[in-house]
Amino acid sequence: MPLLLLGVVALLSAAALPRPAVGERGRAVYLARCADCHGRSFEGVEEAPALTGARFEAKWRGQTARLYEKIRRSMPQDDPGSLSEADAEDLVALVSAANHGRLATAGAGN
Ligand code: HEC
Repeated sequence: MPLLLLGVVALLSAAALPRPAVGERGRAVYLARCADCHGRSFEGVEEAPALTGARFEAKWRGQTARLYEKIRRSMPQDDPGSLSEADAEDLVALVSAANHGRLATAGAGN
């Protein structure tokens, strides 16, 4: 993964709140490819965990580059590796916005 791309992901995540267009792009992909398992409102369904809330935030705060890798390599779980880089970036921005941008702020490990 080129460092430049990680920078773009971090920038997109930081910029997600004031720029709804980024989140909206991710939303279409999310509804088509993620919502069946993770819920339309990121609430989680059965074994698929919620993508918002204290547990998720604690796990991923300051880790948006890792989150990008997780999504790009292992999601959607029924077709891993099928997302384009752009879609994975949009999804990180969307999930970050759903967590009120708090993932992009420095966590314990950052
Ligand atoms: C077929 C069901 C399914 C689909 C579709 C799916 N996921 Fe998942 N997802 C899971 C399950 C089950 C886990 C928990 C196991 C794991 O972490 O791999 C998970 C874990 C995750 C995690 C880590 C959650 C955590 O708490 O650490 C993220 C982020 C995630 N999914 C994002 C996505 C995104 C974005 C999409 C759409 C591109 C997606 N998933 C599509 C089932 C699914």
